[in-house]
Amino acid sequence: MSELNKIALKMISNGKGILAADESNATMTKRLEAVNINSTTENRLFFRETLFSSESMKEYIGGVILYDETIRQKTNSGKSIPDLISSSGAVPGIKVDTGAKVLANSNEEKITEGLDGLRERLKEYYNLGARFTKWRGVYIISEKYPSILAIRSNAQALARYAALVQENNMVPIVEPELLMDGDHSVKVCLSKTSEVIKKCFEELVLHKVDLSGIILKPNMILPGKQSKEKISSEEVSQKTIECLKNSVPTEVPGIAFLSGGQTEIEATENLNLINQNNNTSFLMTFSFGRALQQNALKVWSKNSNDIKAIQNTFNHRAKMCSLAALGKWSKEIENK
Ligand code: G3H
Repeated sequence: MSELNKIALKMISNGKGILAADESNATMTKRLEAVNINSTTENRLFFRETLFSSESMKEYIGGVILYDETIRQKTNSGKSIPDLISSSGAVPGIKVDTGAKVLANSNEEKITEGLDGLRERLKEYYNLGARFTKWRGVYIISEKYPSILAIRSNAQALARYAALVQENNMVPIVEPELLMDGDHSVKVCLSKTSEVIKKCFEELVLHKVDLSGIILKPNMILPGKQSKEKISSEEVSQKTIECLKNSVPTEVPGIAFLSGGQTEIEATENLNLINQNNNTSFLMTFSFGRALQQNALKVWSKNSNDIKAIQNTFNHRAKMCSLAALGKWSKEIENK
């Protein structure tokens, strides 16, 4: 078993999943302002340190994705944030893309940037304690999108990123996210997501990426947010499994889903059924941002600095997601 495969398995085995706390300052500001909290450096650190010191980190969280600001910060007691995460048994990771910019000659689509100087930045992040990384390619769904231009250029960037990350002894999370926005059907989401993922793997293979040392972070297969189509969690799970079975090579150890704007309960319920119906060799877990942090943020905004209340809320959510990663979650347990 390669070192990278061991790290990947440590992050996602036994019901553990990934806490995506890598919101850029701009995104974090939106999240904080939505609950009337000032987005200062101190406040961002306070919230993240509160989550990373929670009891649930030990049992349910196998990895934490950080943003550049956070990986350089220290706790109140002077510990580095990566050390705080490692001390709970989880693996510290870092988002290394520099964001999605308008793709030239495709007015509405985006290409993710950040390859220039990446090799050097990776060395620095490794020295700061990171052992895995994340890069997100983002695609819109409509009749004509994602275009072949967006599919190919993002797949190539993801593969170049993944190869550089492995060269620097870290596990790349490969995240092609097809957004939920739009009125597309679940069928369209399935076919377009499959096309995007297949292209990503074509490029990953071409760039000689060791597939046993990556984690795929895809969207679940859902109808668009503006679509009138209503489907059950059972159908979401079946379509999601069908997509991954047909487009992901079996060497990949695991899949950690993004939540993408689903509510905490929707994301948990869907993940639970995906695991109950999982007939693939892949571990299937969570790499949620909003679906792990939303309620904890709300509690913070209501109870100012009540650390215990924030942690209790986060502990519950992390436990529910972990149960879902084992296919053992239920509404009764959720509401107990
Ligand atoms: O890149 C996306 C994040 O890491 C996951 O965030 O679960 O809120 O979609 P989300």
